[in-house]
Amino acid sequence: MSPASPTTTVPAVPDLTSYRAVHRAIRQGAHRLAIATGEMVASDTARVKAVRRYWQGYAGEVLAHHTVEDTVFFPALAARLPSMTELFEQLDAEHHQLDEHMAEIVATLGSLDRVGGPSRAARALSALAATMDAHLDLEDEFVLPTFVDLFTVEEYLAMEQQAIEQIGIGRQAAFTVPFVLSAAGADADTMLATAPLPFRVLHSLTKRRHARLSAMAFGPLTPLAPVATFAAASTEAVAS
Ligand SMILES: [Fe+2]
Ligand SMILES: [Fe+2]
Repeated sequence: MSPASPTTTVPAVPDLTSYRAVHRAIRQGAHRLAIATGEMVASDTARVKAVRRYWQGYAGEVLAHHTVEDTVFFPALAARLPSMTELFEQLDAEHHQLDEHMAEIVATLGSLDRVGGPSRAARALSALAATMDAHLDLEDEFVLPTFVDLFTVEEYLAMEQQAIEQIGIGRQAAFTVPFVLSAAGADADTMLATAPLPFRVLHSLTKRRHARLSAMAFGPLTPLAPVATFAAASTEAVAS
C-alpha cells in the first residue's frame, strides 16, 4: 500500500509491511478456501457461487504478485546479489508449480456443484496451501530481509511504485486492496494511513462488499486468525 503519502514520516530502512501483508493474505486465502470447500455441500448454490468468485479474485492476486516478483523485485535483487541466483531459479520454478496447482483448482471448481466436487476442490486447495506456505516461508526468511540490507528507502519505494503501476487501480485492485487489508491485522491501520489516496478511496468503496463475499464463502471464520490456525483447520477439513 506504500509508497508513503507526503504527510507521513519516511522510515530509515525499506518498510516491508505491505509485502509481508500480501504474503499473509495469500497464505490465509488458500487455507480458508480449503476449509470452505471441505465443509460445504455441492447443493449450496450461494456458497458455490461465492467460493468461485472469491477464487477468481484470489487467483488474480497470486498471479499479479508473482508477476511483480518475477519482473520487478527479484531481478533487482539478483542484480545486486548474484549469489542468490540459484534461490531465484528455485522460486521461479515454484511459481510455475503453483500455476499448475491453480490450473487444477480451476478444473475442480468447475464441478463444485456436483456430488464429490467440494471434496475434490478441498484436496486441490489444501495442496496449493501447503506448497504456498513452503514457498512463502522461503521468501519471508531469505528474500525479504535482503531488501532491507541492499536497498535504500527511495530505491525500494520506486520498486513498490512500479509494482503498483503494473497492477493498476482496476477490477483486480478492487479485490486485492480489501483482501490484503482484511488479513493485515494490527498493520492495517498503518498501511491505510500511508497508502496513496486512490487506494484509500478504493478500500472504502470495496471493504463492505468484500466482507459480504468472505462471509458468504467462509461463514464465521475470522480473517484475523493466525495462519497456523487456518493451516490446522484446512488439514482437518480435508481429512474429515
Ligand atoms: Fe511472494
Ligand atoms: Fe513468490
